[in-house]
Amino acid sequence: MTNTLQFRRHRRLRSSIEMRSLVRENHLHKDDLIYPLFIIEGEKTKNEVPSMPGVYQISLDYLEDEMKELQSLGVKAVILFGVPKEKDEEGTGAFHDHGIVQEAIREIKNKIPEMLVIADTCLCEFTSHGHCGVIHNGDVANDESLELLANTAVSQAKAGADIIAPSNMMDGFVTAIRTALDEAGYINIPIMSYAVKYASAYYGPFRDAADSTPQFGDRKSYQMDPANRLEALREAESDIEEGADFLIVKPALSYLDIVRDVKNNFNAPVVAYNVSGEYSMVKAAAINGWINEKELVMEKLTSMKRAGADLIITYFAKDVAKWLSE
Ligand code: PBG
Ligand code: ZN
Repeated sequence: MTNTLQFRRHRRLRSSIEMRSLVRENHLHKDDLIYPLFIIEGEKTKNEVPSMPGVYQISLDYLEDEMKELQSLGVKAVILFGVPKEKDEEGTGAFHDHGIVQEAIREIKNKIPEMLVIADTCLCEFTSHGHCGVIHNGDVANDESLELLANTAVSQAKAGADIIAPSNMMDGFVTAIRTALDEAGYINIPIMSYAVKYASAYYGPFRDAADSTPQFGDRKSYQMDPANRLEALREAESDIEEGADFLIVKPALSYLDIVRDVKNNFNAPVVAYNVSGEYSMVKAAAINGWINEKELVMEKLTSMKRAGADLIITYFAKDVAKWLSE
């Protein structure tokens, strides 16, 4: 039979597993993965987060085993969040030299020095009101918060953090933190800025995990409006001008257009934060048997790479590392 019709045969390049591998454009690698950890004060504590099956708040004594597991799976970087016992108005636990995050950094760097430790720099886990800055006259005060955030970053660097990741969304936070780090001698510690962070309902489960739900109001005066795209470029531009070394876009799933915009407009590694709600939705469906978890997660994270992400912060990091080894 001769083919007289004129059209292109796209299916030629999809004809077998090998053919598809040959022409695959984007790949997920273990090197792309950053695993978030919640460190809780106390001993011998390992609490599963109810809304995040498979994610735990762990005490310092579990860290060494956790790092060994990650290492054996090939995950090379973690990002740390603290769950302190005491909170106060100013979130002083965030910048205490023996705060929970500082202790966790020291413990990891002592036991497993090769593990890259990223410190999330914010106040909300440590403030009694749960906001990411200090409160003046009922509002989150920008400039007053900067000094506390800078102190937090310096204390994290002092404890041995490899990368500082400020997530607070105050204006000028990269300048404040870069200046403070440089003055303290940490000129070579990079800043992974949460440059583009939306006020998102996808953070719900994280606030259970980190016990950081705002006690009044919401975060909409400092986190971004989900309807806005150009504003994301302004935010990213400021952070680059102020000296950010990496740009985070958060959440990932509903914001892949923004990941692409940031990738196209700025020459810095782009990090997609696959947040708690994105994790919990998949887990809930998987537990019910409604979706194929492995296929769905691999598809989702590969789509983040395709959108332009160089790195992905994800609660699925361990699973993905396992699947990539199979
Ligand atoms: C707060 C912070 C949040 C996350 C990381 N740091 C969310 C918030 O604004 O409450 C969210 C992470 C996630 O949902 O996985 N500075
Ligand atoms: Zn915060």
